[in-house]
Amino acid sequence: MRILVTGGAGYIGSHVVRLLLEHGHDVWVYDNLSRGHRQAVPADRLIVADLAEKERLDQVLVLQRVDAVMHFAAWCHVDESVREPAKYYQNNVVNTLNLMDCLRRHRIRRFVFSSTAATYGVPEQVPITEETPQRPINPYGAGKLAVERALADYATAYGWGYAALRYFNAAGASPDGRIGEHHEPETHLIPLVLMTALGQRPHVAIYGTDYPTPDGTCIRDYVHVDDLAEAHLRALERLEPGKGWCYNVGIGRGYSVREVIRAAEEVTGRPIPVVAADRRPGDPPVLVASSEKIQRELGWRPGYTDLRAIIETAWTWHRSHPRGYR
Ligand code: UFG
Repeated sequence: MRILVTGGAGYIGSHVVRLLLEHGHDVWVYDNLSRGHRQAVPADRLIVADLAEKERLDQVLVLQRVDAVMHFAAWCHVDESVREPAKYYQNNVVNTLNLMDCLRRHRIRRFVFSSTAATYGVPEQVPITEETPQRPINPYGAGKLAVERALADYATAYGWGYAALRYFNAAGASPDGRIGEHHEPETHLIPLVLMTALGQRPHVAIYGTDYPTPDGTCIRDYVHVDDLAEAHLRALERLEPGKGWCYNVGIGRGYSVREVIRAAEEVTGRPIPVVAADRRPGDPPVLVASSEKIQRELGWRPGYTDLRAIIETAWTWHRSHPRGYR
């Protein structure tokens, strides 16, 4: 298939692009490089452009005759979305609707969407299934949910076949150390912990030590980025006209912030100093996936089920790229 991957130079997108190429797909990356990295994708597959440039997008769709779109391009920080909701609604909702409208006009009806566990808000029970009510508590989650709703309507009205993958916490890096996670500024726990192990930061701030969890710190479900990539490939193969599928993608096991730090100390063999800090606005206490549905319907299984193994791949990346892609 010829696939347009928006945001394909970003963290998750670049791992998906690599897997799609390995499976013989013809891939075009559409990325404005505002947070993505040129070095993360093959140079001859990259189109540097913004989703707000409708004419450019039209031109690309005419020239490339794509069969399907995987849409990763989005801002992705919960705390930033609380501080700057306009930025999030503009990019994650308005630009996505621009993209969807262009695709509608070009009669491209296969779409795989990066959704998020943040659409669930503070779930009443864990593990979270796809039937758990979606009540986002931050603009990031609200924007992603708005797009899920629009996709459902596009499926009904225009015959789109789509999949919305609700990621839990993407983590790790390609095990050969060639591509990995690099955000500027970095806000995600595992990269910050490993940057601290490398001596690039003095300590890790633990955001909230009074949550209703066994050790008082937030619990998350960390899923390896290559396992996420595999979920996209399977979702793409499952698309059916007029139908929409939503899947949680996580390993079904939660780790607290303190457990992540301890695991990283074991993997790196280095002490990681911590300081207790205030809670971060918009953070739910516990997010753990039930990924039964994707296992049953797509035959997906996480290859990495152990946090240490996930952190090891991230450590390989950070040690070999102490300045990320710079
Ligand atoms: N945390 C700290 N200190 C830090 C950074 C993070 O204690 O310096 C904590 C956070 O409070 C949270 C956990 O570590 O409890 C994980 O935080 P991340 O920032 O790594 O990830 P989030 O859970 O906030 O967000 C991730 C993705 C979002 C997605 C969300 C869905 O980045 O895009 O998962 O759960 F929406």
